[in-house]
Amino acid sequence: MAQGLRLVLFGPPGAGKGTQAQLLRDSLKVTHISSGDLFRHHLGQGTELGLRAKEYMNKGELVPDEVTIDIILDKILSVSDEEGFILDGFPRNPHQAEELEKALNGKSRNIDKVVHIEVSEPELLRRLGGRYVCRACQAPHALGEGEDAASKKCDQCGGELYQRDDDGPEAVKKRIEVYNQETMPVLGFYRERGVLADIPGDNTVGQVNKQVMEALGA
Ligand code: AP5
Repeated sequence: MAQGLRLVLFGPPGAGKGTQAQLLRDSLKVTHISSGDLFRHHLGQGTELGLRAKEYMNKGELVPDEVTIDIILDKILSVSDEEGFILDGFPRNPHQAEELEKALNGKSRNIDKVVHIEVSEPELLRRLGGRYVCRACQAPHALGEGEDAASKKCDQCGGELYQRDDDGPEAVKKRIEVYNQETMPVLGFYRERGVLADIPGDNTVGQVNKQVMEALGA
């Protein structure tokens, strides 16, 4: 039986991980696991986990490992070897990367590829300032000139669009700082394992998608 792809999409807030993950999920037919979407889903349901995560998310900080790791690993380990997965937002520090490796080694095999999408900070700020997310399916949208979120609906499911609380200027600044300090070291972890591919993310969505596919040899 063929083995499904095990991919990590890596990059700073606003790099386009969610956008690319949705395209890859549809073309490669693998499961998309987004830690941020999972927390936002819980928040929308008002669960204890969602309320706990919100305290950190709205400040732009990482949700503590003891809240994050087990719940994400459970999701990952529930995906069959044949199906494969794309991780978006996890792992986000070296401890999470180590725990993921241990869990996958116990199962069968490790991550096949980590695609690092590099985007300049001014472009990240521009994108996050104009991003609207679907309340139902969480698909990210960039509003075009003259469009307003109240009259526009989600391209994918017709759901209502909203701006994330952590896309305000203070939280974005903090998220980028946390990425540089706590998340970037994960790149070294995967570079050592020979699975890292760096691609420029300042191009259009279609061009970035083409480069991701090339990095995957697809
Ligand atoms: P999370 O939801 O993972 O947010 P993030 O990593 O900050 O990433 P974003 O979702 O903001 O950006 P993206 O790269 O997906 O970009 P997108 O495709 O939307 O995490 C949120 C919070 O949850 C964290 O701060 C933390 O508190 C917590 N958390 C999550 N995971 C955790 C973990 N593992 N451990 C601890 N805490 C955790 O694109 C952005 C915009 O740009 C969109 O409008 C899009 O349309 C547009 N766009 C995309 N690509 C392009 C392009 N090529 N050209 C032009 N526009 C583009």
